[in-house]
Amino acid sequence: MRIVLASSEAVPFSKTGGLADVASALPKALALLGHEVVLITPYYPRILAAKNGSTPAIEPTGGEVSIRIAGRTVTARILRSSLPGSSVTVYLIDQPGYFDRPGLYVDGGQDFSDNCERFTFFSRAVLEAARVLNLQADIFHANDWQTGLVPALLKAEYQTQPGFAHAAAVFTIHNMAFQGQYWHWDMLLTGLDWKYFNWRQMEFFGNLNLLKTGIVFSDVITTVSPTYAREIQTSEFGCGLHGVLSSRRDDLVGILNGCDTEDWNPATDPLIPRNYDFQTVFEGKAVCKAHLQRQFGLPERASAPLIGSISRITSQKGFDLIVASAPRLAELDLQMVFLGTGDKAYEQKLQSLAASYPDKIAVCIGYDEALSHLIEAGADLYLMPSQFEPCGLNQMYSLIYGTPPIVRAVGGLADSVVDANEENLGQGIANGFTFYESDSEVLFRQVCRAMGLMLDRRTWAQLVRTGMERDWSWRRSAAQYVRTYDRALQKRAGGVE
Ligand code: ADP
Ligand code: GLC
Repeated sequence: MRIVLASSEAVPFSKTGGLADVASALPKALALLGHEVVLITPYYPRILAAKNGSTPAIEPTGGEVSIRIAGRTVTARILRSSLPGSSVTVYLIDQPGYFDRPGLYVDGGQDFSDNCERFTFFSRAVLEAARVLNLQADIFHANDWQTGLVPALLKAEYQTQPGFAHAAAVFTIHNMAFQGQYWHWDMLLTGLDWKYFNWRQMEFFGNLNLLKTGIVFSDVITTVSPTYAREIQTSEFGCGLHGVLSSRRDDLVGILNGCDTEDWNPATDPLIPRNYDFQTVFEGKAVCKAHLQRQFGLPERASAPLIGSISRITSQKGFDLIVASAPRLAELDLQMVFLGTGDKAYEQKLQSLAASYPDKIAVCIGYDEALSHLIEAGADLYLMPSQFEPCGLNQMYSLIYGTPPIVRAVGGLADSVVDANEENLGQGIANGFTFYESDSEVLFRQVCRAMGLMLDRRTWAQLVRTGMERDWSWRRSAAQYVRTYDRALQKRAGGVE
């Protein structure tokens, strides 16, 4: 199958969150299954220049796209690269006016005022590049609101062109909370007919809604865990689009993300001071833990349970619960380390907690790939009490690194973490700690429960090894995507209704 995957961010070229991880790991896994995959993403020169670590070579193709937008014609060069260690070709859309900026979507806490125009341009560029390069795709796989117009443009404009007639559109929702909503006049930017601006298609309470557009025009919709696929059909999690999603429930599939197990493997990870596997986990983690404590300036105490967190510091990730329970947690014999950036109010709260409890709590505000690996390896427990979590990657990295997670049982957290209750422990399937109530007292009790279980060395070893043993790679999820693509093609051909 020929698949074009469109994403506004992709490792190792750009990243603000899990979407970038998925946009590069899924194509690689699909290529290993024998499919021809091309990734199309914007070229952000300033982000690349600021990045640590190597980037694959990027060269011009000589091709370009010219797009009518906002009353003018805007041109972009098409650059070519590849995903490291794979046969996946990457086309980067080089339009400096839109993408040569200090951030992907935001600068100094403010969304760029022309984001609708930038990603309308990018969505059009995906289809135009496919035409110019004669990609003959079977599937256009768009992701999140930034590429929500791709399915609509395919259906409304490109399907009549040679090379596009049989192509199907698949749209993946990584987060319902970001919908790309703009005022109605931005409909003009899309170049699509006003007839699509109605409550069944692109309009949402008077605004243009690009996430809704992606959902409505795709043959099949996926989201990144089975539980989230159910949750988003309810008013609690659907962010206003639960009705749209339930009306498409027969075309909505939840597929749990995998992990890039080459980057995230404690046995080979070059970013941690001692590699370890299933058998040597406790010796290895002891060395990593001491290193982590030194790095964060915490006392080097092997016996104090060390809890880690790497995250966008936002309410989605449960920071209201974390900061509310932290002072009580700090009274216990434990340590906590936080790495992340996000809402200034939570960042300040964490920093003042670190100042009040210097031997217990340490915070690094920033984005640091190497430190994130050290935390996964050196912590005893991982904390992720998200309000909602479409999939979540760090709980899976934690499981791979033998660091049982404490999570709220929502979305992908519910689909990957199995609670250490008696029944699950008895069956040998428990790998962490789950709770549901969004309550700081409950979170406090869960941490106490986890610390209690750490004292039972045999049970603890079983819990750690159960998490490490499971296959968290993309292999299985990629096979599910292939089945989904097949379904979309059948639907497009009129075989499924
Ligand atoms: P989301 O996309 O909602 O932020 P995910 O769990 O899917 O959450 O993915 C987050 C990704 O970003 C993970 O790969 C995580 O390791 C990484 N990450 C988040 N914050 C940081 C940080 N401050 N430093 C390094 N990596 C980070
Ligand atoms: C989003 C979600 C996160 C998910 C990621 C990749 O950013 O918040 O839960 O893991 O996308 O699918």
